[in-house]
Amino acid sequence: MLPTVTAVRYVTPLREGGSLPGLVEADDLGTYVVKFRGAGQGPKALVAEVIVGELARRLGLPMPTLAVAAFAAELGRGEPDPEVQALLLASAGDNLGMDFLPGSFGFDPRAHRVDKELAARVLWLDAFVENVDRTWRNPNLLMWHNALWLIDHGASLYFHHNWPRADKAVLRPFKAEDHALSDYAAGLPAAAAELTPRITPALLDEVISLVPDGWLGDPAFATVEENRAAYRDHLLARAASPEAWLP
Ligand SMILES: Nc1ncnc2c1ncn2[C@@H]1O[C@H](COP(=O)(O)OP(=O)(O)O)[C@@H](O)[C@H]1O
Ligand SMILES: [Mg+2]
Repeated sequence: MLPTVTAVRYVTPLREGGSLPGLVEADDLGTYVVKFRGAGQGPKALVAEVIVGELARRLGLPMPTLAVAAFAAELGRGEPDPEVQALLLASAGDNLGMDFLPGSFGFDPRAHRVDKELAARVLWLDAFVENVDRTWRNPNLLMWHNALWLIDHGASLYFHHNWPRADKAVLRPFKAEDHALSDYAAGLPAAAAELTPRITPALLDEVISLVPDGWLGDPAFATVEENRAAYRDHLLARAASPEAWLP
């Protein structure tokens, strides 16, 4: 399991992205960006955040700490915006917390230089997990203490929105033209040679096991364990054929 924290104060909504995450203070004195289960993207966005974020971390990519954030509906009482109120009410219980990086700001591909190897590894990750949400318009990368940090993997693993057809997506190519780090694609073969062999059944099982049961349970599966195994088998099969999907 991920560490669990309990929200003690809802501070403010963050409106840059589409899913209305909230800034929350928790009982460990930490401040978290919370992605809510009741958002329009649904719990699968949280599943993708956990699987991809924790995979990224284990592959050495810079990821803020993730936690399960328990949220009581009454914490949203003071929130004046009815849309946010409805979201908080629909999200009572377990949500996804990400350690808030204070003073961070959005990466700008035209202004910031990134280490070439790191950039290629991020591009490799996004191609592997089909993360279409790291474009130059919306990089979902932060600069913090002069270094690059990865956020927002909720749109990855697109195949999980249609399990009966997920097999057809195993070898789906990744289009890198709009990717925030596409200028660094020259490093992809080296990044792939380093990272693809690290995608093992054990690593995948480890990160998939971190997803709370309550966020799984797609009707295509009889049990949550079958659902977890389907993620592993899909990603393992994709890792076996990088030539099919690497840009
Ligand atoms: N860990 C973090 N630390 C600081 N700011 C963050 C963090 N995570 C997200 N943000 C800010 O909140 C915005 C929305 O978060 P994001 O995860 O991209 O959600 P969305 O799904 O709405 O796009 C980001 O663009 C960024 O400005
Ligand atoms: Mg975003």
